[in-house]
Amino acid sequence: MSSLTKNPERSEPVEENSAPRAKLYSLPPLGYHYYAFEPVLSSEMVDLHYNAHHAAYVKGANQAVEDLAEARSSGRYDSIAQLERNLAFNFSGHVLHSLLWRNLSPNGGGAPDGELAEEIERHFGSFAALKAQLNAVCTTLQGSGWGVLSWDPLGRRLLVEQVFDHQNNIGRCTLPVLVIDMWEHAYYLQFRNRKNEWLAAYWQLIDWHDAARRFALVRQAGIGL
Ligand SMILES: [Fe+2]
Repeated sequence: MSSLTKNPERSEPVEENSAPRAKLYSLPPLGYHYYAFEPVLSSEMVDLHYNAHHAAYVKGANQAVEDLAEARSSGRYDSIAQLERNLAFNFSGHVLHSLLWRNLSPNGGGAPDGELAEEIERHFGSFAALKAQLNAVCTTLQGSGWGVLSWDPLGRRLLVEQVFDHQNNIGRCTLPVLVIDMWEHAYYLQFRNRKNEWLAAYWQLIDWHDAARRFALVRQAGIGL
């Protein structure tokens, strides 16, 4: 009997290199019109933010995944560090913008209630204190970034994070509940350099039902520690 046997790892087709598949990430439907937030937010700004900026992160995330698959299949890892940076940046940009559109509602504003309100009071003292901390985080960013209200599944508490770009200066396991985009592309077209006016507009549009729904989900998460 021949000692030659097929190596299944080499003879089986590799799924990621088989027939073309749908892209991994896609631009989520907004669920409202670009003009839904007029006159607080201009339709032009929402349109541009969604169709140009968010779409670019979706494209970049898919490209990074494809480039990494190509690197694996060719065994060429000379650009691996840049590819991993591209993945982190674009994937995080896609996630945060997807959250952003869900966090907004033409019927938004006001304050949270229920368990989210109770947790905010427990961890920040009051809703006003959370708002002050988030506003401070958002207006002191050096460069582009986000203010984020996150759930920490290890300490089982809410935290405010000041995110650099889309992917830096964050705790490893935190899960975002509410996000505020402080990249200039989010506000400059309408508010110029008046960050406080952008923030005031944003607080008027926050969909606390969406935040409460996400809070209920992320509280169930664990990381096995
Ligand atoms: Fe943005």
